[in-house]
Amino acid sequence: MSSAARFEAGRYELSDVAEAFHRDGFVVLDGFCSPEACAELRSEARRLMQAASPEEATVFSTDASEHQSDRYFLESGDKIRFFFERDAFLEDGSLRGEPEACLNKVGHALHDLNPVFQRISYDPRLGPLAHGLGNASPSIVQSMYILKPPRIGGEVHCHQDSTYIYTEPDSCIGFWFAVEDATVENGCMYFLPGEHRGPLRERHRRTGTYTTQTETLDPRPWDLEGAVPVEARAGSLVVFHGRAPHFSGPNRSEHSRHAYTLHVIDRECHYPAENWLQRGPDMPLRPLA
Ligand code: FE2
Repeated sequence: MSSAARFEAGRYELSDVAEAFHRDGFVVLDGFCSPEACAELRSEARRLMQAASPEEATVFSTDASEHQSDRYFLESGDKIRFFFERDAFLEDGSLRGEPEACLNKVGHALHDLNPVFQRISYDPRLGPLAHGLGNASPSIVQSMYILKPPRIGGEVHCHQDSTYIYTEPDSCIGFWFAVEDATVENGCMYFLPGEHRGPLRERHRRTGTYTTQTETLDPRPWDLEGAVPVEARAGSLVVFHGRAPHFSGPNRSEHSRHAYTLHVIDRECHYPAENWLQRGPDMPLRPLA
């Protein structure tokens, strides 16, 4: 079985990273963030989560149909909002435990609204990296802190992120920071090498103010036979193409799998008004310098 191309942060040639990225659709930059930076992200996320109330939050499901008319979700593009795991609630509607043990993710504008997340998001190494991978004018369009909590962290079916972050032409790049070790046991990502060179297979779009639907563009099912697990130690950065198909299993382990993700697009590409994620006039995209 092939494995992910890995580079040591600070010791790679951008052209080598770009070659692997264009060949496989994903690369790992080990040691991109220091242990201190990971600890800071984790503690800031914890502080934010303590402020999350179950009343304002909704169950986040990876099955789009379950939140397609969910106003809370669809208005979160320029806010910091909290989304719980499907199994986070007991029968009486109360939370199973502390928010950190029950949340699926926090999103989607941490990078522009929170100083700690802003610092890592606008790390001066990311702009040149995105530029070297083909984005002439890179900007961060969304950020998420993903928790995949022990025992109840749900699986994520195989998908392409450009389905949700759609531009013309395609320019979406995912930056996935492992805040904690991601392993096969706690639900690391799997990728299908080279499949990003194929077409976008689904497109998710708004059909009304609070409704969306997913349109099938190519009905072929993904062949998961060649999927490669991409384990990542805390501090590693996984960089992947918007059309790179990926998925992750449920977390049945005792260890959480926290990650911080950014999606970058090229401002020179068209960003349609029917993309689910929209930012208000007070929050224009900032250059990823
Ligand atoms: Fe994804």
